[in-house]
Amino acid sequence: MQNYDTVVIGAGAAGMMCAIEAGRRGRRVLLVDHAKAAGDKIRISGGGRCNFTNLHIASEKFLSQNQRFALSALARFSQWDFIGRVAGAGIEYHEKTLGQLFCDGRSQQIIDMLLRDMHDTGVTLRLNTSVERLSHDGSYRLLIGGEDIDAQSVVIATGGKSIPKMGATDFGYRVATQFGVPVVETRPALVPLTFAEQDLAPIKLLAGTSVFTSVSCGKTTFDEGMLFTHRGLSGPSILQISSYWRDGQEISVDLALNADVKSELAKARQVSGRKAISTALSAFLPKAVAADAVRRAKLTGNLADQSDAALDILADAVHRWTLKPAGSEGYRTAEVTLGGVDTDALDAKTMQVKAQPGLFFIGEVVDVTGWLGGYNFQWAWSSGWAAGQVV
Ligand code: FDA
Repeated sequence: MQNYDTVVIGAGAAGMMCAIEAGRRGRRVLLVDHAKAAGDKIRISGGGRCNFTNLHIASEKFLSQNQRFALSALARFSQWDFIGRVAGAGIEYHEKTLGQLFCDGRSQQIIDMLLRDMHDTGVTLRLNTSVERLSHDGSYRLLIGGEDIDAQSVVIATGGKSIPKMGATDFGYRVATQFGVPVVETRPALVPLTFAEQDLAPIKLLAGTSVFTSVSCGKTTFDEGMLFTHRGLSGPSILQISSYWRDGQEISVDLALNADVKSELAKARQVSGRKAISTALSAFLPKAVAADAVRRAKLTGNLADQSDAALDILADAVHRWTLKPAGSEGYRTAEVTLGGVDTDALDAKTMQVKAQPGLFFIGEVVDVTGWLGGYNFQWAWSSGWAAGQVV
């Protein structure tokens, strides 16, 4: 029987941060992961440059049944704290847009920094290793890679269900259920949206085209890029709205948010009435997207042929394109998992299960989901840090 103060399960962003902090406090820490490398999602994130945090962390950038739950951890180990570590490790970074901080070089630099810190703080890392059993009997008893292990505390940092191909499992939710901790229903989020065949056919024809859009669902709106694909719609504005969209709801897309298409075309009608209507509209949109909007508005002919009412219909097709997604691409491509371990069951300061001392949940497995843009990693760093102070 091996003894540890704490066993952290899952060597992703949250698990590594927690292990480092506990190690710094002189705790004997075992960090276990069934993958063959630590931090795989860090490696592929941000197109290989890891969007590791955001300058504008605020509660409204997180979805949860209790939106205020994350605030304590996010304030105690903030974006500035993580930026300090990145800078201290000599990693160069830049703001890309909307406060999103990316490495100038590869994401691997962040993983290397964490691996170095784990080494320096004496954390034992075991990869390619599964947890076969977990039980509690005064202390926590685990069977890990065929070995019996005893620990004072166990931290579940196994992430969400997104991208099963990369080793995502429902382990964390199963442990929650085993210990009677409620789990808020999970759903894929930050995920491309898909459409029924009749809506998809024209979208497919535009595959590869991107447009700066405003996409709304209910009262929520995101102004960011949108990408037409062979499967449906993607790009930042769609990924963001997917976290708010529910089955059966419509989304509304403004394809030209910086132009008033009706009044611009009415003006152009006076001076260049012989232009084809789709040519005139392509002053504001990529040509093929303009042609598709004209087709949806069922207009033909030149600008001079269009009545004010016809221009109103076209403006609607451009500024208020209403679509009903059939679904999403699901966990196969979702960046994150919405829902998870119910925050009501956790102490917001430590991430400990209130009714089960010594059991902690951190990172994406918890019902805290950030917007696109570095918010999810910041939650992983902050919640991992918070647990690391007490395990
Ligand atoms: P994470 O999923 O990182 O780690 C969980 C670990 O647990 C994994 O190493 C896994 O192998 C292990 N594990 C799972 N089940 C296990 C089991 N049964 N036994 C043992 N180990 C097990 N966020 C952001 O802020 N900025 C960004 O740029 C991006 N980009 C991005 C791109 C892509 C393609 C994806 C899929 C996701 C992002 N994200 C992101 C989201 C971000 O990656 C995510 O929120 C964090 O990695 C969550 O960190 P965790 O440590 O909670 O889980």
